[in-house]
Amino acid sequence: MVVPLSGAVRPGVPAPAPARVAAEAPLAERYAAHRANAEEAARLAHAAGAERRARAVRELAAPDRHFLEFDARGPGRTAEVLGDLHTADRVAILVPGSDTGIDTYPRFLRGALALHERLGPRVAVIAWLGYATPGTVSPAALTPGRADTAAAELRSFLHRLTTYGVPARTPVALLCHSYGSVVCARAAHGLGTPTAGTRVTDIVLYGSPGTGFDHAAELRTRARVWAGRGAHDWIAEVPHVRVELFGTTLGFGPDPVTAAFGARRFDAGDGGHPDQLAALRSGDIPLSTAVEELLRYDSPLHLFERWVLEDIEVGGVRIPRGSEVALLFGSANRDPEAFADPDRLDLSRTDNPHVSLGGGIHYCLGAPLARLELAASYGQLVRRAPGLRLSTEPRWKDGLVIRGLRELVVEV
Ligand code: HEM
Repeated sequence: MVVPLSGAVRPGVPAPAPARVAAEAPLAERYAAHRANAEEAARLAHAAGAERRARAVRELAAPDRHFLEFDARGPGRTAEVLGDLHTADRVAILVPGSDTGIDTYPRFLRGALALHERLGPRVAVIAWLGYATPGTVSPAALTPGRADTAAAELRSFLHRLTTYGVPARTPVALLCHSYGSVVCARAAHGLGTPTAGTRVTDIVLYGSPGTGFDHAAELRTRARVWAGRGAHDWIAEVPHVRVELFGTTLGFGPDPVTAAFGARRFDAGDGGHPDQLAALRSGDIPLSTAVEELLRYDSPLHLFERWVLEDIEVGGVRIPRGSEVALLFGSANRDPEAFADPDRLDLSRTDNPHVSLGGGIHYCLGAPLARLELAASYGQLVRRAPGLRLSTEPRWKDGLVIRGLRELVVEV
């Protein structure tokens, strides 16, 4: 098995111990202490030459950031509040899945911001990065071990919420994504009972690889259990099996969106990356960077051919002179050895050596023009169609070489 590409884990970058804040300290004091701690973490990372980490934590020290908890050591543990915890009618806690850490935090935050925007000011959103998430392509992502520790952390965070001033009567929903759904399922036991302190009313599992349980009832929670998945979620393609291998359990069992699991099912949309669109609209991501990622993620030309002029060997395969070979650009653009988490659309991706415009002496002659046209048209589209959304599932042409749309029906 291949071991992680996790951008999340950066061992060895020095960081201060978390700020000590009295349990009952006012929120403003708590937030200020964690910002100062983030500032100190940025200074230490910079001094150690870890510039990427320094930049990432410096952003977290900005005056408008509100961390209930903050620890920059290792992959990082944080709980950030969007909105007002004291006056909110409801609280939604986002529990992330694999490959989330301080270094990849902006992606997680964008999801939380998009959710907060959608739910409005009466709902406070907490982006809870309270556990060491596994790398997507790692054994840890297929085994529940890490989720057990994480579930304990989540439960203890839920207990602390009342000391942070969240009224015990405020309904709290857990929104648990991918591996986060395994964590929530393990934390669910007893949540939602009147004696459990924080009032968890709903547990929402989406993009789940399975929860480790065969039925929602096994979660033994009084909270409502929801399950959803976008139409194009790759998790749907993962076989939902659970096997015992070498004394450890691999996989998480049935998909919670199946009727047999017994959760309340909802449509999680088309998997249309609303957080990415929101980030593009907000101007956080340069259009030129987004264009490169869109070229990579959905390669317009999937295949080109070459004739082999002399015997060669590629990846242990001998290709004799005179052969015709097909180069699969679409596949190369999802190569896990070249791209971190290749199946994820990340418009802020800067390390992006895609081959959508070819390579070598036949490199696309029109590349600069194509890039200009794409940036100009996407720029106009997001500016002039703020309500743009899909009406129906896009339909693609069948061709093997050119990946193009047959039909794209949208509302503006
Ligand atoms: C998103 C838009 C575009 C994509 C994805 C694209 C993709 C490619 C690719 C993959 C190749 C390499 C083919 C190979 O390896 O044999 C190529 C070559 C080429 N492209 Fe593009 N292209 C685009 C736009 C354009 C535009 C706008 C023009 C002209 C104005 C253009 C003109 C050419 C030419 C002339 C070549 C052949 C270069 C050579 O063989 O030396 N392309 N393109």
